[in-house]
Amino acid sequence: MHLLQNPIRSEELLAKTIDVAHRFYASSSEPLRHSDLIKLAEQQGEHALIELFNNHSLGYADNGGSLDVRQEIAQLYNDNISADNIVVFPGAQTGMTLTAQALLHAGDHAIIVTPSYQSLEESAKLAGCEVTRVALSPDDNWRLNIIAIEAAIKDNTKYIALNDPHNPSGALMDVETKTALCKVAEKHQLVILSDEVYRLLEIDPEERSASMADISKNALALSTMSKPWGAGGTGIGWIACQDQTLCEKLRRAQHIYAVCFSRAGEIQTMMVLRCSDRIIDKNIRIIKANLELLEQYFAANNDLFEWVRPKAGGTGFVKFKGPISANSLASHLLAQGILVFPPSIFDCESSLSQYFRIGFSRTTMPGALKAFAQFVDQQRTIWAQ
Ligand SMILES: Cc1ncc(COP(=O)(O)O)c(C=O)c1O
Repeated sequence: MHLLQNPIRSEELLAKTIDVAHRFYASSSEPLRHSDLIKLAEQQGEHALIELFNNHSLGYADNGGSLDVRQEIAQLYNDNISADNIVVFPGAQTGMTLTAQALLHAGDHAIIVTPSYQSLEESAKLAGCEVTRVALSPDDNWRLNIIAIEAAIKDNTKYIALNDPHNPSGALMDVETKTALCKVAEKHQLVILSDEVYRLLEIDPEERSASMADISKNALALSTMSKPWGAGGTGIGWIACQDQTLCEKLRRAQHIYAVCFSRAGEIQTMMVLRCSDRIIDKNIRIIKANLELLEQYFAANNDLFEWVRPKAGGTGFVKFKGPISANSLASHLLAQGILVFPPSIFDCESSLSQYFRIGFSRTTMPGALKAFAQFVDQQRTIWAQ
């Protein structure tokens, strides 16, 4: 299969919108600045790391990720995961693509939970898989239906890929559902790719459950610096996995397809993780303040909008109840300099064709919401005709 056989759904939209005034779709946290990171690291007494950054070699980083960064990353998990269970990739997107390349073969079958980040499905297809989608529904609060997953399993099923916390809905899986899914995977000898890139952005930290990688040897947990920490510029993502045979396959895929990642990014990642609590507290505060504004707005305009309040991450999937399609709404908004993600980006089932994605993890969101509200007020009378 040619890598770019399928259209990249966000590409055309993002190309048109380089200068868009209001990025009301953005999913990653407020971007960190390197100078602010250094200040944070200094305040925490991380002088050795700063020295390491200033004097690091510009040669290759170690395959699979250098030991020091893997040790730091492993601390995000429970005791089942140590540095040996972490494989570093240049970002999560490369991680999911190379995982599929490493573990799947032409003729295998994969189950993909949708709506989803496009690359999650494309990576399985690129590896030659036949794909069955299992759709989440707002009628069920975007909960994963384990019975639907079991019903989709075939003799040649090898892989279940899903994203939790969920982009676009902001839904969060409870530990009972995770455990049930892991039991299904173990029973049928399937691998779960659990895309957990929004983990640690739970609005109520009490609702955070263990990573799927901690729960089952059949699960690979994918993560990245881009989302909770706003540090995508480090170019560092990773997979956590208990099973050394799987880890070794991933290391080999990284070695053959993505050998050149950045040591600077690894050291920045260590600095970010040492200062993680402060960075994430700040980002959660932004999310909570923005969610309050959105709740008020959607409650006051519930004739036009409806959503299931997100529980984690920086995105929500909103239903538009007006007389035009959500794709048209997004086009009209874009003409006013306001970018939301239309359902076409997620190649949504027809039942979700009135849903659009917003992002609320940036300090710029209140300005975007204001512009959005002004546009809606102008259109109200036209939509009422
Ligand atoms: C669900 C999901 N997974 C993975 C990624 C990719 O992460 P990265 O930017 O680290 O490649 C994204 C980015 O938007 C995402 O939303």
